[in-house]
Order: sequence, then structure tokens, then C-alpha cells
Amino acid sequence: MSASARRYRPETRLVHAGQMRSNFGETSEALYLTQGFVYDSAEQCAARFKGEEPGFLYSRFSNPTVAMFEARMAAFEGAEAARATASGMAAVTTALVAQLKAGDHVVAAKALFGSCRWVVEDLLPRFGVASTLVDGLDLAQWRAAVRPNTKTFFLESPTNPTLDVIDIAAVAAIAHEAGATLVVDNVFATPLWQSPLALGADCVVYSATKHIDGQGRCLGGIILSSEEFIQKHVHTFLRQTGPCMSPFNAWVLLKGLETLHLRVKRQTDTAAAVAAALAEHGKIKRLIYPGRSDHPQAETARKQMRAGSTLVALEIDGDQAATFRFLNALELIAITNNLGDAKSLVTHPATTTHQRLTPEQRAELGITDGVVRFSAGLEHPDDVIEDLLAALKAV
Ligand SMILES: Cc1ncc(COP(=O)(O)O)c(C=O)c1O
Repeated sequence: MSASARRYRPETRLVHAGQMRSNFGETSEALYLTQGFVYDSAEQCAARFKGEEPGFLYSRFSNPTVAMFEARMAAFEGAEAARATASGMAAVTTALVAQLKAGDHVVAAKALFGSCRWVVEDLLPRFGVASTLVDGLDLAQWRAAVRPNTKTFFLESPTNPTLDVIDIAAVAAIAHEAGATLVVDNVFATPLWQSPLALGADCVVYSATKHIDGQGRCLGGIILSSEEFIQKHVHTFLRQTGPCMSPFNAWVLLKGLETLHLRVKRQTDTAAAVAAALAEHGKIKRLIYPGRSDHPQAETARKQMRAGSTLVALEIDGDQAATFRFLNALELIAITNNLGDAKSLVTHPATTTHQRLTPEQRAELGITDGVVRFSAGLEHPDDVIEDLLAALKAV
């Protein structure tokens, strides 16, 4: 983070950090929609390629609009360095694969977004990297899973979709004792409410597709860590393999960051109001919200999160048919698999994000056919609550 960015409070950094004005003095960040760059001379071109002169070379490696997004995210997260990617999955895959080689071992929490679990459970073993999945809430399981060749730990917290809160500082300590790194997917917490690097993680990843865009427009991802981690693992991997962010998406996401704190605060207030309105409802068997004192890991949530979440997990008291009746009866809230949007959204994890898992694996994670993930939008909270209460009559 530059000294000038560090001087300002977080909200100010979200608006200003990383801006590089061109000679035209534009107010808004410029969109450099270019694949490549030209050089004053062949000597300058050669010097840039050798890394002897700073500057841009080719947008697969770096681009001024993407660099502004990376610098703004790094300044907000309190990370030394950041690299943007085409999607959240490109960020997760890069953060893991770039550290690993055949013969290594990974330990990850079982409760992962479906695609993340596929990377750990199916993809890595194809290339000779063993993986062990543990109950992320059970510290003894993390400890017991360690092998001499364990290189990295991976978790998300709160988890998708049941909002378990894993003790990041405790897992980081176990990883470091084993000589491994810890990568945290911080999508559900958002950079506003949780800072995994400050809790001891070595690397944080986001799907920028979620709250960072926040208006359902584009995909993106970002990896944040120390300069050493980026240089050792991420930089060359991204440059040579190419899962880079488009400058257009970086520009949209820069605009998203300007309003992130306003949106996420409002969404969190709405999620808390929804949780309060539905907690005692007769058609709801279980309601999970990290900001409530009845959350199973309320103490850990208080310790490591600055606020609840923009998401609420509900378990409808009924089978899949009853749950679908509830979803289909919603008039304002849309059925989708995204989250963190301006529009309030619901997802049925068992048939979408986690449909790849076996029924037994879903049961182990508490993802029954009645579980619904609610993502708070920016509508008036009363309209959202009224829509949910009316739809519950259809259960
Ligand atoms: C927790 C979590 N991690 C990663 C991703 C992947 O992000 P993307 O869809 O941008 O690739 C998602 C997407 O739903 C997610 O919920």
C-alpha cells in the first residue's frame, strides 16, 4: 500500500486509492481498452521485457485499469500486493495451484463452494497433489490431517451456504506450525467485515463477481497477499497461463468499489432485519445468521468479524417440493445462484451450487433439501421481508 493511500480511512481508500490519472486529467478512472503498448524505441522495448524499466507490456501481464483495481483492493485489504483474475474461480485455482507441485498435500475445509471443492478434491489429485478434507470447525481435524508434505491449507468463512464461522487465527497457527500457508476465500465476509491477513492468513481470494461488483454486471477475481507470496507463486503463473482480468471488467469493478461500504452496510442491516423477522417463524426449522447470538459460532464471529453478513441461511420445515413452493411464490426476490447483488436473491444450494455432492456429503454439511440461501439487496427492507413472509404461506 502506498504511503498516500495508508493515510486515509477505509471509505476514502475505496474511492481514491490506486488512481493513475492520464495527461487528460480525467475525474473517473480511465478505461485502457488495449491489448498491448508501444515503445519509443527497440531499446526501450527490450528494457521493459528484461524488467529493467517499469511500464506496461501486454494486457495478459498487466494493464493500467487492472493495475488501478489491484492497487485499490490492496489498499483497502491492507495487503502488500494484489493480482486480479478473470473470475473468482481463476483466483482460487491460481492461489492454490501456483504454490503446488506433484507430491505435495493440501488440507481444506469440507464446507466449500462447489467449484472450489472440485478443484481441491478432483483437480489437484489428477496432477499428483493429495488433498484431505476436514470439518473446518474442528481444530483437531486440521492438526491430524497435517503430513510432512503439506504445503497449504484452504478455507472459506463464513461458509457457503450454511454460514459456519471457522476460527481463522487458530487454523493459521496450525498451518504455520506445519510449515504450510493458509489461503482464505473471504467472499461471504467481504473485505468490509473480515481481514484474514490480519488474522494470520497468507493469502486472501475474492470472487469480485459478488459484492465488489455488487450490481450483477461482470465476473472477476482477486488474490491479495504479501509481495513475497505474489512474486514467489502468483506473478509468473498468471503471466504465463493467462487467466487475466479484462480492463473493461476492472473498470466496472473500480466503480463498484467506490460504493462497496455503502452497499454492504445496507445489505448487512437488511440481512439482520430479515433474520430477526424470520427467526421464530413456524415454517422455518433453522435460521443461521453470523450476527446473532444464537449462531453456533457466535463467539468466533464476534472475535474475527466486524459485523454479521449480507447473507442468511434458512431451512424450510419441509421437503424439496415445499421449499420450491416457497421459492416460486417469491415475487420481488429472484431465484438465482449469485449473491452480493443490488437485488435480493435466493438460491437452493442442494440443486445448484452443491448439486455435484452426493446426498450423504450434503447431509454432512447440513445442506438439506430445505436449505435456502438468502442474499440481501438494496431494496427497502420491509418490501423484502413482506415478500419472504408472503411466500412462506405457500410452504
Ligand atoms: C465462496 C465462493 N468462492 C468462489 C466463487 C467463485 O467465483 P466466480 O463465480 O466469480 O468464479 C464463488 C461463486 O459463487 C463463491 O461463492
